[in-house]
Amino acid sequence: MKSYAVAIVGATGLVGQEFIKILQQRQFPLGNLRLFTTDRSAGKKVSFSYQDVLLEELHSSSFKHVDLALFSAGAEASCHFVPVAMKDGAVVLDTTAAFRLEESVPLVVPEINPQDLRRHSGLIANPCCIAIQIAMALFPIHRVNPVRRVIVDSYQAVSGSGASAMEELSLQARLILEGKNVIPHIYPHQIAFNLLPEIDVFLDNGYSKEEWRIVRETRKIMHAPEIAISATAVRVPVYIGYSAALHVEFSSKITPEEARGILGASPGVRVLDDPSVSLYPQPWVAAGQDDVFVGRIREDISLPNGLALWVVTDNVRKGTALNAVQIAETLIERGWL
Ligand SMILES: NC(=O)c1ccc[n+]([C@@H]2O[C@H](COP(=O)([O-])OP(=O)(O)OC[C@H]3O[C@@H](n4cnc5c(N)ncnc54)[C@H](OP(=O)(O)O)[C@@H]3O)[C@@H](O)[C@H]2O)c1
Repeated sequence: MKSYAVAIVGATGLVGQEFIKILQQRQFPLGNLRLFTTDRSAGKKVSFSYQDVLLEELHSSSFKHVDLALFSAGAEASCHFVPVAMKDGAVVLDTTAAFRLEESVPLVVPEINPQDLRRHSGLIANPCCIAIQIAMALFPIHRVNPVRRVIVDSYQAVSGSGASAMEELSLQARLILEGKNVIPHIYPHQIAFNLLPEIDVFLDNGYSKEEWRIVRETRKIMHAPEIAISATAVRVPVYIGYSAALHVEFSSKITPEEARGILGASPGVRVLDDPSVSLYPQPWVAAGQDDVFVGRIREDISLPNGLALWVVTDNVRKGTALNAVQIAETLIERGWL
């Protein structure tokens, strides 16, 4: 079997560390692994398959002889280094928001639109975590009963802002329980014991950039520009796991039982739905798992053809690193790498 030279950019970050774990767990056909960071971490070593791999500082000649580059070092690093990697012949999977909405760049969830990978020209974008789980829950039903409108309320864990945000939540929680004051650094307000309806900057239309990403990326993944979507994205004091309440209007009537049947047969989706025993998806339970969990499936009584659903997934895993590795596996399976 052919093996591939893989580079991870942002290797010490939450996503980078998850990439390392998933490549090992899924026995990705690795020939050579290069790990890139800033000069802050360069020089240290990371264990991979019982070997130590050196962390290297990223620079413009880092991508020589690299087949596949996984980028998770923020949009600024991607804007600068993705073109460099492509010029040196690497196929790039970028998890940042830098290129997702460019017409020529496929935005892919392998269970939904793997065929879009065929037209890649060296760069593929991984969608934002929350759009991945929304599309995973909607698309299987949309194929048989097109979605007309969705109202999304999302509850997004602090890990979506990186390792330092997780540390900030821990520190604030400890200080508050000790009766001390906290000074927020990562977020505009205290996140411990609080909710912040602000993720990324606010746009002129009143939506936040994250809410706007939900609208545009979900439509792009599903090839459904006609779906009306409105979203409210809230940062919550949870370490791992994004949750979303979806209120969906379909083209024709669909019962909760029918929806459970369709979703239960969809790869990558797991239905957890028995309110009589308090069985429903929770971020605590989804953390570390690969699936997108769906529950609380019920008729939306405010709509003629409506359903309400509760969708939870591990944002660092299926929401980011696992989805990107699945894209790489699909490229290999189909001979497109
Ligand atoms: N967290 C998520 O759920 C999530 C989801 C979707 C997309 N993403 C994307 O992935 C990025 C990283 O997320 P994260 O949660 O892993 O963040 P993180 O925990 O803060 O880690 C950031 C990583 O990027 C490296 N880095 C930063 N600037 C760099 C540069 N100019 N050149 C090379 N390496 C650089 C850091 O290296 P040092 O150790 O040297 O500082 C570190 O390894 C985000 O900015 C976002 O664009 C994250």
